[in-house]
Amino acid sequence: MKKDNFQIDLVAGARPNFMKLAPVVSALNRFPQIKIRIVHTGQHYDNGMNEVFFKELEIPEPAINLGVGSGTHGFQTARILERYESLLMETPKPQMVIVFGDVNSTVACALAAVKLLIPVAHVEAGLRSFDRTMPEEINRVLTDAISTIHFVSEPSGIENLKREGITGENVRFVGNVMIDTLTKNLEKAKKLKMPDKLGLIPQNYGYITIHRPSNVDDTSTLIRLLETLQSISKQIKLVFPMHPRTKLAIERIQFKFPSESEKSIITLPPLPYIESLGLISSAKFVMTDSGGIQEETTFLGIPCITLRKNTERPVTVELGTNKLVGNDPEKINKAVNDIINGNWKTAQSIPLWDGKASERIAEYIFEWLKNQKN
Ligand code: UD1
Repeated sequence: MKKDNFQIDLVAGARPNFMKLAPVVSALNRFPQIKIRIVHTGQHYDNGMNEVFFKELEIPEPAINLGVGSGTHGFQTARILERYESLLMETPKPQMVIVFGDVNSTVACALAAVKLLIPVAHVEAGLRSFDRTMPEEINRVLTDAISTIHFVSEPSGIENLKREGITGENVRFVGNVMIDTLTKNLEKAKKLKMPDKLGLIPQNYGYITIHRPSNVDDTSTLIRLLETLQSISKQIKLVFPMHPRTKLAIERIQFKFPSESEKSIITLPPLPYIESLGLISSAKFVMTDSGGIQEETTFLGIPCITLRKNTERPVTVELGTNKLVGNDPEKINKAVNDIINGNWKTAQSIPLWDGKASERIAEYIFEWLKNQKN
């Protein structure tokens, strides 16, 4: 390799990684000295959870797919670790590995790299829900502990890292790469006129996503949530794209919405990013347990009812449109009524959520790599 050329791996595995990876790939590609290799772990593999995002977000096809598939946490994480380590040992070593977010692929690949003395940069570092029953929280804490560079998306991240002894110039508050992707695709999303296509009136429906183990794995919790949706749908139409984990859980308990709800709860397969953004941006409200959607709704100024008791993205509650409601039907119903009655907070703008986070990341990485060579 020429003296001023750098090789970087970017790792992605699960749906929320792809929207974060896309703008970082474009920003790094502006540096001819940087050669990137996209490694897909195969954690998500269905077309609707995977290829479709690469196509519409114009992400180059991954150079490698580790093909790990689904399994228990131990199995999946171990398989990614083992397969990524082999790849790193069998091919020329990159000078850096970039990992995103908090999924099992994030922690497994960070661990494989760091044990081979390859520095890791973590995009979306420092977020903490302080809830260690969430698999993602364990992944966040561990990934941050072994990363060299921490790219932080909101101010709480800096404080959280400091508390864990992670400080210094490699903790960079750069803003939010999800918002880079959102700003790039919003016009396209609006042009799709998704509400029209589904027979919905803009600002007159709720958009629902539920997939966290804490909401779908326990039968009585899931039934309670589905019955709550049923009762809300008597007031306002709902669109409910279903994550495979949720679909499987609903099939397992053989739950069916009664036929009178079928017109007012539109269930769909997982949606591509731009379609989903089109529906979120015109919704009256969003009800979700996703991480990224809490941020997207805050940026768009759409009321967000979060079906969790905590969030690793507190800025969306402090400055944004997000309220943490948990999964108690009474609280959920109250939140929906508040929104319908116009009794909800409005969002302030969030520092550095300006569509330029990936540029800041790419510039810092390039400078950092150059400094390592000198
Ligand atoms: C993972 C992430 C979660 C993220 C979510 C977004 C972890 C610990 N969790 O959760 O943080 O919010 O992705 O989607 O990494 N399945 C399919 N097709 C697929 C992928 C999964 O049918 O392409 C089914 C399988 O039955 C699988 C289940 O979904 O067992 C769960 O998949 P998994 O990757 O284990 O976790 P997610 O719930 O998707």
